Amino acid sequence: MKTLVTGGAGFIGSTLVDRLQAEGHEVDVLDDLSTGSLGNLAEARADRTHRLRFQQIDVREDQIVDLIARRAPEVVYHLAGQVDVRASVARPAHDAALNIGGTVNVVEAARVAGARKVVAAVSGGAMYGEVPPRQLPAKESQALAPTSPYGVSSRVAVDYLAMYRRLHGLEFTALALANVYGPRQSPHAEGGVVATFAHRLLTGEPCTVYGDGEQTRDYLYVDDAVDALVRAAGRGDGLVVNVGTGVQTSVNELYHLMAVTAGVSRPPEGAAAPPGEVARSALDPTRAAIQLGWRPWTTLEEGVGRVFNWLKHTT
Ligand SMILES: NC(=O)c1ccc[n+]([C@@H]2O[C@H](COP(=O)([O-])OP(=O)(O)OC[C@H]3O[C@@H](n4cnc5c(N)ncnc54)[C@H](O)[C@@H]3O)[C@@H](O)[C@H]2O)c1
Repeated sequence: MKTLVTGGAGFIGSTLVDRLQAEGHEVDVLDDLSTGSLGNLAEARADRTHRLRFQQIDVREDQIVDLIARRAPEVVYHLAGQVDVRASVARPAHDAALNIGGTVNVVEAARVAGARKVVAAVSGGAMYGEVPPRQLPAKESQALAPTSPYGVSSRVAVDYLAMYRRLHGLEFTALALANVYGPRQSPHAEGGVVATFAHRLLTGEPCTVYGDGEQTRDYLYVDDAVDALVRAAGRGDGLVVNVGTGVQTSVNELYHLMAVTAGVSRPPEGAAAPPGEVARSALDPTRAAIQLGWRPWTTLEEGVGRVFNWLKHTT
């Protein structure tokens, strides 16, 4: 299969690139390297059997349309975007330009290129917003009530994908991802709390827990998320599919697990809760099981252990 990955130098994108290459697919990567890096693609670029093509470009550029048409991919994976809830609250126009404008550009390019399908990653937690506790884990039928610009841009990206399917017959699957963590996630970006805690616990810096720390998230290991992306190339047409574990873990519980793993007994520091963040989040993976044959398999303990190992070998 000929594939193209936008945001392929990022955390999730580069893990997807490695998996696609390992399965023998042709891979083109488009990325502006704003948060991603060529270092993330080092293994993929060293593979002499399956040549990786890389182009540094902003997905908002008009040239994207011609470029993708020339590459003529069968499946376009769209992962270029900004992931930070707090950044979206601080700079909503930037978030919209990138996460909505960039998506429209890529979907239009996929249409012009005659691609069979676009598989896009959006934020499940941000898109559903504050879900009443008894309705958690959220199903895809959950009313959308985003509480941040990032949640709105996820929702609008899905609207564009659905509209392109109706108007032009371009197939799509939108994967509503939970909180993905794993090796290559930047410890310096907001939102990647596992990466941030792991880095700080290893370097002896204090960790900050916002609010009372009882806010919950659904932590999903990156290999499990990538498996859903790969499956979506051939399944789940025309659907939003939740990709999460369905399990809520509070930030306090996460800190405790990670501190014990790192052998640190110091408690975290506290800070005021930032605006825009939801109190509880978890995604029901039933549809993913039915439509994609997907289930998460990595436990939080295993995944956290791999993050520590990776950090120890890279820093
Ligand atoms: N990490 C998560 O928990 C999570 C959860 C839900 C959805 N997502 C979505 O998955 C995608 C990938 O997230 P990630 O965690 O790997 O983040 P990331 O920041 O590591 O990856 C994003 C990649 O996109 C690139 N990029 C950013 N703006 C670009 C632009 N204008 N043009 C071209 N490339 C650009 C960056 O350089 C980077 O390589 C994002 O769209 C994000 O919204 C992530």
